Amino acid sequence: MNEYLTNLEKYAREYKIPVVLPNTREYLCNLCKTKQPKNILEIGMAIGFSASCMLDSCDANITCLEVSKPNILRAVETFSALGFSPRVEIIEGDCIKTLPTLLGREYDLIFLDGPKTQYVDMIDMILPLLSKDGIWVSDNVLFRGMVRDGAPISEPRFVRTARLLEDFLEKLESNPSLSTQVLHTGDGLSVVQYKR
Ligand SMILES: C[S@@+](CC[C@H](N)C(=O)[O-])C[C@H]1O[C@@H](n2cnc3c(N)ncnc32)[C@H](O)[C@@H]1O
Repeated sequence: MNEYLTNLEKYAREYKIPVVLPNTREYLCNLCKTKQPKNILEIGMAIGFSASCMLDSCDANITCLEVSKPNILRAVETFSALGFSPRVEIIEGDCIKTLPTLLGREYDLIFLDGPKTQYVDMIDMILPLLSKDGIWVSDNVLFRGMVRDGAPISEPRFVRTARLLEDFLEKLESNPSLSTQVLHTGDGLSVVQYKR
């Protein structure tokens, strides 16, 4: 990782902006290196850390959906400093509203890292955007062990999030046209592809 990204990761940790864990970053970067996607969609960009790591590992263009204006402003700075701006399209707003506007486009890598309680509602909006050979990775699906790994639910408000993430995984796994893996990488990743 270059110095700018190392400092950006430190900044994110310092200001409690949640960005991908190191193992997840490595997983995404390896995927970008081996698969060489042309078009990436990221839902939940924050300050552009994971997006920049992916762009640094392949020649793709990326569409990023983000609702927070301050995060967008910081991400714009990041992309500009790294020379990535021409490869980035940022769509501002609630992804539940902006995702349907992408209908008709196709992405060969999708990274979902937005609102955890809405993952399950986004399945039907995301699948039409995934190319036939594409890969869709979602972060935090094991939610600090509170989903599937038997960790105690640490706060009452997490009961609903954990249940909705479990619903998300069940809905993916029960879809006969999808192959779904759940990895213990980082905070838990689901990896979805269309069956051939
Ligand atoms: C975990 S952070 C993303 C981190 C980023 N992927 C990274 O690793 O560098 C989640 C982001 O999703 C954004 N977000 C939350 N709800 C959203 C929504 N409904 N629509 C779009 N973005 C949303 C938050 O503002 C936050 O920046």
